[in-house]
Amino acid sequence: AWNESETLAIVSRHAHREGPLLPILHEVQETFGCVPEAAVPVIAQALNLSRAEVHGCVTFYHDFRDAPAGHYVLKVCRAEACQAMGCESLVKKAEDRIGVACGETTPDGRVTLEAVYCLGLCATAPSAMFDGRLIGRLDVEKLEAILGEAGA
Ligand code: FES
Repeated sequence: AWNESETLAIVSRHAHREGPLLPILHEVQETFGCVPEAAVPVIAQALNLSRAEVHGCVTFYHDFRDAPAGHYVLKVCRAEACQAMGCESLVKKAEDRIGVACGETTPDGRVTLEAVYCLGLCATAPSAMFDGRLIGRLDVEKLEAILGEAGA
């Protein structure tokens, strides 16, 4: 679980750097699996930033999460090229299948469904990433197979 003193230790390891916020957030997420809401004021105060600045950074970069991810993470690309190839209906399909909205984790902690904004695979859109593996030409069949693999 998140704790304040370890967070402050991370902050002090990076505080001397130019632009310490991003490396701090990365290390906090690596250590605790997420950047919880409670960490934001602690980091802000230690760096002499406003909470809004720290919060803005956490939400701007889609890599940060405020709750731990599930055992499996399915990221579906929702950027332009994938939208043109119908990613929205696949997101909807995935949401229906696992019973949570995009951005959330199933209550049993098995699967997190997330949006991502371009995986660099536009030529084979719609694209996704499952468990760190890139997937091109995502369709309902592949989606079913992936979610089956995740036990969802
Ligand atoms: Fe989806 Fe580029 S827009 S991979």
